[in-house]
Amino acid sequence: MVLSEEARDLLADLPAHRRQTFELRLQQWGPDLLDAVTALYSAPDDVASALVTVAARGFAARSDELHRLDERRLLQPDWFQRPNMFGYACYVDRYAKTLKGLGDRLDHLTDLGVTYLHMMPLLKPRPGDNDGGYAVMDFSSVREDLGTNEDLAQLAATLRSRGISPVVDLVLNHVAREHDWVVAARAGDAKYRDYFLIYPDRDTPDRFERTLPEVFPDFAPGSFTEVDGEWVWTTFNEWQWDLNWANPAVLLEFAEVVVHLANLGIEVLRLDAIAFLWKRLGTNCQNQPEVHAVTQALRATCRLTAPATLFKAEAIVGPRDLMPYLGEGRHAGRVSDIAYHNSLMVHVWSMLASGSTDLARHALAGLPPTPPGGTWVTYVRCHDDIGWAIDDSDASARGVTGVGHRQFLADWYSGEFDGSWAEGLVFQHNRETGDRRISGTAAALTGLGPSRKDPAGGFARIFLAHAVVAAWGGIPVVWSGDEIGSPGDPEWASEDGHSADNRWVHRPRMTDADRARRHEQGSDAQRVFDGVAHIARVRAGLPMLHSEAPTRVLTDADIDDGLLVVQRRHPSGTLVGVFNVTADHRPLARARLADLGSVDVREVLSGHDLAEHGLHDPGGTLWVPPYAAWWIV
Ligand code: GLC
Repeated sequence: MVLSEEARDLLADLPAHRRQTFELRLQQWGPDLLDAVTALYSAPDDVASALVTVAARGFAARSDELHRLDERRLLQPDWFQRPNMFGYACYVDRYAKTLKGLGDRLDHLTDLGVTYLHMMPLLKPRPGDNDGGYAVMDFSSVREDLGTNEDLAQLAATLRSRGISPVVDLVLNHVAREHDWVVAARAGDAKYRDYFLIYPDRDTPDRFERTLPEVFPDFAPGSFTEVDGEWVWTTFNEWQWDLNWANPAVLLEFAEVVVHLANLGIEVLRLDAIAFLWKRLGTNCQNQPEVHAVTQALRATCRLTAPATLFKAEAIVGPRDLMPYLGEGRHAGRVSDIAYHNSLMVHVWSMLASGSTDLARHALAGLPPTPPGGTWVTYVRCHDDIGWAIDDSDASARGVTGVGHRQFLADWYSGEFDGSWAEGLVFQHNRETGDRRISGTAAALTGLGPSRKDPAGGFARIFLAHAVVAAWGGIPVVWSGDEIGSPGDPEWASEDGHSADNRWVHRPRMTDADRARRHEQGSDAQRVFDGVAHIARVRAGLPMLHSEAPTRVLTDADIDDGLLVVQRRHPSGTLVGVFNVTADHRPLARARLADLGSVDVREVLSGHDLAEHGLHDPGGTLWVPPYAAWWIV
């Protein structure tokens, strides 16, 4: 690869050991970079050379401390796959008003066992409604009310010193319509018009819309918006303009942003809405192969500057489309290191509502194994609604219909179904498909909602759900408020710009008083917090929960339909997770635990001796109590 003059000058000015480091990285990741841009653009050598220049600039500017972090991470390439990883996600303002405020309130997180902190979008958004910060108008500065770039770098350093990896969003599918690029495009600047997808009339938009699903059918129908007599691609809201990733200039802009954030000390970049990046006529314009080439190009650039910084794909897509985000085929080991396990989340809720693990076992066991260098973010709830991503072919393989089961789940979690304990809100009722997504906190969806329909069951289900996702492999991430059993924000609709978007119901503000409630013995907050913290603590000491230990879902027909049984085999031993998703006792043949041997078998979550349930009777049957979550090692 030919280095630009600027890159050569930059490297020549570095001390010899630094220069050699960069050269070695170029040998390692340069081919990935070139390969990716060759798949995307007509002048790949120029694009590759420009990306290397961006990386060299970032490398030269990177602080000594962060260079040291790079070395440390390269020596521990599995750092994010280890069982001590435990995540938390929050809006900085809603958790602690400012970045400084957050830095002063870390005890709550360290007590929970947090080692990974996703701070929701914090770069300067458009004024007014901005989709929770996902409409960015300036990638170079932090939201003014939260603080400055220096505050962010300072917070990252503090987090690092407390063993917590900072995570922030990289919103790369779209920008706010107030962004300078849009302003220049609207003023007629040809360079910037080519950053977006702008059509003179409805002809092309109509052809695309024949196969495009709607993301926000309620408050932002369609995928195009009429602006100044033309039609602009706006997948999400009309004030979020989709970028034209077929233009290499867009890639170069984002390479700068990646390097900038990495040099502030951000350790994981969440690639927001990554599935939508590349558009192709006649498709749903999601998961196109070029998306993975774009990711590979950005990742290789980032590795050159900051190998400590990883990528996490936010691709909320069906199970079949999900695996390529962790790298398949030519992109194996070259794209995102982490991806959201949306299917697991959906099936946790599906199992709890139906009291059956049949469909979940089939769907989850059918997923290909996670690639060795990658891992999941597993979660019970996040800041978004839950879309019932039940695969039609999975459903019909188990004798139900996808549409019928999705209908049932929406009825159940909106509380409309007779006997439901849930108090969710319907989000984006799509009248064409009948789909109804659901908003609500974990507490509201399990029985511990505002009217406390079933508190005892609620606690059990919250603990069970977290125990399932924490046993899976990956980084379990707790959504802010769920760790204290928040029923949700009753005032969500009264905040400026929020009234049409009920996802705000599960994005409660947290005060010091809310956080202090976890010390009040017997309160919901204390019971939930201690339960979740306990899971994190136990997990950290179990090598079988390292991501590299494969997750095997047992599908044997003789296992009771109310039980989910999962096995994690590791050289240090085997862990079997047994989860009862029903309110009854369910039988489990002792022989199912044969792998464990019978000496010194322990259930490590409760610390209880399972002998009383018949564990030490090889021919016997265990009776698994209602909603029990057992991690047996
Ligand atoms: C992601 C975010 C969601 C947002 C969307 C558009 O899916 O999680 O909150 O609305 O992207 O940026």
